[in-house]
Amino acid sequence: MAVIDDDYGPIVMEHFTNPRNVGDLKDANAVGMVRNGVCGDVAKLFLRIEAGRILEAKFRTFGCGASIAASSVLTELVRGRSLEEAGALTQEDVARALGGLAEPKIHCAVLAEDALRAALEAYRVRTGAAVAP
Ligand code: FES
Repeated sequence: MAVIDDDYGPIVMEHFTNPRNVGDLKDANAVGMVRNGVCGDVAKLFLRIEAGRILEAKFRTFGCGASIAASSVLTELVRGRSLEEAGALTQEDVARALGGLAEPKIHCAVLAEDALRAALEAYRVRTGAAVAP
């Protein structure tokens, strides 16, 4: 488990202050939106998928710094991946890519993973494409 003591490590801060791939993706063909029922943070992930591969990813997240950093790094993690590879990503991969998260912030990485799951599921339902669980 990628847990650190600092609330916001340097990579989290870097993604929070300079988030990658923010905004709507006009030609997205998979969108997932999730909300954490406790803190209320919302993450929306847009994907453009072609021939079983994620070509583009953007996000809009309304929440804490860690949830924005997690969404930002998630868009970098999924770009170029096959649906199978993306489907195998977890909140642990997100937290690791951020250099770790403090225990109370782990759920921010879960929010990002949930947004990815929701987008992949929406794509699967719409197209019938096989997506790893
Ligand atoms: Fe809830 Fe960050 S505090 S997602």
